[in-house]
Amino acid sequence: MAVSDRAPVLTIDGPSGAGKGAVSARLAQRLGWNVLDSGAVYRAVALAALDRGIDVDVDREALVELARGLPLAFRAGSDGIEVELDGCLAGDRLRSEAVSVMASRVAVLPEVRAALLDLQRGCRKPPGLIADGRDMGTIVFPDAELKVFLQASVEERAKRRYKQLKSKGENVILSRLFQDMQARDRRDRERAVAPTVPAFDAVVVDSTRLPLDGVVQRIIDLASCRFDI
Ligand code: C5P
Repeated sequence: MAVSDRAPVLTIDGPSGAGKGAVSARLAQRLGWNVLDSGAVYRAVALAALDRGIDVDVDREALVELARGLPLAFRAGSDGIEVELDGCLAGDRLRSEAVSVMASRVAVLPEVRAALLDLQRGCRKPPGLIADGRDMGTIVFPDAELKVFLQASVEERAKRRYKQLKSKGENVILSRLFQDMQARDRRDRERAVAPTVPAFDAVVVDSTRLPLDGVVQRIIDLASCRFDI
């Protein structure tokens, strides 16, 4: 077995808005581990497909080919993890609405998910990996030493998203965000491939009333029982 296969993995799965990204970045910093943002991987496939004019409904083969050889790299930047696609920083383009919609369309295709497995598993390198996503503990790293499922109430997640978008000057309506989030949760939970559900051996952490520092500390406490940290 290669050294990289033995590197420990801590998976953080859960619905959007539960705080996985912020928690994963803090954990990676505290432990000095690598981090995989698997949502960014799906977003990168979507962005690269849009850039190349690939029609998801027509040219499935080109999409799978693209996913298999995705020219993607993660770099530690001054502002957290930066994503490089085709040798250039992807920046805000990765978070645009068009890319979000396309990402959720490519993410339901089993052949695309299969094509991205090696890339994601390749991130498992010493001293360890924090893997953030929806199916990290169930499919990508079923043998992870610690699996966390981070959840929060829909109301709280919609409120967080509202504050975030307002601070960026976007004109949004809370009740609309709440409805969108409920619909997205249902789609993610009930989809046939890689649904967002806790692994049978995951520890569920609820961040509804727990601030970021509290969530991070709770996971560090769990991790210190499982890892030599
Ligand atoms: O988390 P984020 O919003 O960046 O994810 C982008 C898209 O990729 C979403 O549609 C999400 O459902 C999908 N995704 C996935 N599996 C993962 C991570 C994200 O299907 N492990």
